[in-house]
Amino acid sequence: MSELQAMQARLVADIAAAADLDAIEALRVGALGKAGSITALLKTLGGMSPEERQAQGPAIHGLREAVTAALATRKAALEGAALETKLAAERLDMTLPADARPLGSVHPVSQVMDELAEIFADMGFAVATGPEIEDDWRNFTALNIPETHPARAMHDTFYFPAQMNDAEGRAMLLRTHTSPVQIRTMMAQEPPIRIIAPGRVYRSDSDATHTPMFHQVEGLVIDRGIHMGHLKWTLETFLKAYFERDDIVLRLRPSYFPFTEPSAEVDVGYKQEKGRRIVGGNGDDEGHAWMELLGSGMVNRRVIANCGLDPDEWQGFAFGAGIDRLAMLKYGMDDLRAFFDGDLRWLAHYGFGALSVPTLSGGISA
Ligand code: PHE
Repeated sequence: MSELQAMQARLVADIAAAADLDAIEALRVGALGKAGSITALLKTLGGMSPEERQAQGPAIHGLREAVTAALATRKAALEGAALETKLAAERLDMTLPADARPLGSVHPVSQVMDELAEIFADMGFAVATGPEIEDDWRNFTALNIPETHPARAMHDTFYFPAQMNDAEGRAMLLRTHTSPVQIRTMMAQEPPIRIIAPGRVYRSDSDATHTPMFHQVEGLVIDRGIHMGHLKWTLETFLKAYFERDDIVLRLRPSYFPFTEPSAEVDVGYKQEKGRRIVGGNGDDEGHAWMELLGSGMVNRRVIANCGLDPDEWQGFAFGAGIDRLAMLKYGMDDLRAFFDGDLRWLAHYGFGALSVPTLSGGISA
């Protein structure tokens, strides 16, 4: 056996016996690296006579090819084995339950707003909106609450500093009710008008039943020949659909709002059951009582005229209700402040599934 054959046999045997990829790499460097044994042999070719080179050349190149091939074969075998081991160790167990992902929920206020939109859409009402930063003309003056009127004091208003007055010099404020949306709607569109306007309102007030920000829904109908019968029917139909019961009894109590004339506070009969108020029944019946639910009335002629409409031609009614209050009554929460604390445990308990969209046919609390 020639020296080269012996060298090849030794290298190929070492390569075949290499235990891991590091060992393979060490053998490759030792044979074919810059200072490797085969590299050294290849370098000797340059100093040979042409005859010698003709004799030695193929043998040395053959050695290099054999070693290169052996390295590749062993490397592939080791990599294959490593992959097998890894696959065996990392096998996926498809029967394991998936990680639970935190799912958000729909806040009861949003849910009730959806229910309101659904119920009133069925009666031909559109949803209207207005800005929460309002001017005092739309929030008060146009609604027949003049500068010096004591009714302004009923709403503990958050005003912006005077340098933020608008171009017409009107003071800016956080709207104290959704009624300015009445003004915006009457000024923007021709009657007939049928809208509800849900949204945030602000008053400087804070205890278990009052928060500085809360939600109201305004209702407004303007048409020819509208009277209080329409108002009562609309509210009754709404409350029956909302509370999902037919025994809703209303009591209209004379009241005062500057923007309606006549005005009525609307009470609804209820009874106390296991510490909860259950809406339904006649408040005058045994075991029942009345609770004030919303404010309403026929839109004051002055308000209609302030919006540029002729009050002899157009009449209508308006109402305003607290959305948070409606949610508490239907879903049984008792502290309004919890609505806005953002406590995830409360939201998980009282929130609604993102896909449980209220529909009149499928039931709105489904
Ligand atoms: N804007 C009144 C309030 O905030 C409610 C209301 C609206 C009353 C419309 C009558 C008509 O108290």
